[in-house]
Amino acid sequence: MSKKIIITIDGWSSCGKSTLAKQLAKELHYTYIDSGAMYRAVTLYFLRHHIDWTDDAETKNALNDIHLHFGKNEKSAECEMFLNDENVEYLIRDLIIADKVSDIAAVAAVRTFAVAQQQKMGTHKAIVMDGRDIGTTVFPNAALKIFMTADIAVRVERRFKEMFEKNPNIVLRDVKANLEMRDYIDSNREVSPLKMANDAILLDNSKISMEQQLKFALQLVKKVVEE
Ligand code: DC
Repeated sequence: MSKKIIITIDGWSSCGKSTLAKQLAKELHYTYIDSGAMYRAVTLYFLRHHIDWTDDAETKNALNDIHLHFGKNEKSAECEMFLNDENVEYLIRDLIIADKVSDIAAVAAVRTFAVAQQQKMGTHKAIVMDGRDIGTTVFPNAALKIFMTADIAVRVERRFKEMFEKNPNIVLRDVKANLEMRDYIDSNREVSPLKMANDAILLDNSKISMEQQLKFALQLVKKVVEE
């Protein structure tokens, strides 16, 4: 498929957006960009430096000191998040970050900061970016927009398994509470709330396998590219 496009994947927390985005990027030889990792890295910086994100001037000053970039992990060949040249990929997946990231991602200055960098990454197309506002705000003209959803019980189970591997003390109830809280904040914030773009295609993967979802998405890509 020679025509290069931008593919956006938005949706609720833990419904498999990054899994599908990575699968697609691999198949198409595109770059995968995890926009949520950028909000998580900003959150890590704010927590480490005790930044009061309700204070506009303090937030803007702090953002001036943040440099984000994605770097390739040579072993896994995956792109990982760097905060001021430190690989923070592992640290940003912690529940401490998940607990605060939606509040920080709702701050207008933080969104302006992240969205500008995300838009630059799309200059040459051939990217798959996942997040919450990619099809609505970051790339409203993207050629293919997918909006993912899955039953809450399925999403909790998936996130729990993922976190349990790192931390066996994790409690299912806490994972569920965190997902519900993030869904609420992400879809109710004033700036770029999570919502399905009018021209997005809905993909509910509660009952389908990873292979089936990839097949479905590749068919969509083929249709768009051959149009
Ligand atoms: O995709 P994720 O769970 O890593 O995202 C972490 C948080 O970042 C999520 O709760 C909402 C926020 N986010 C956002 O507001 N906009 C995006 N494009 C991506 C993530």
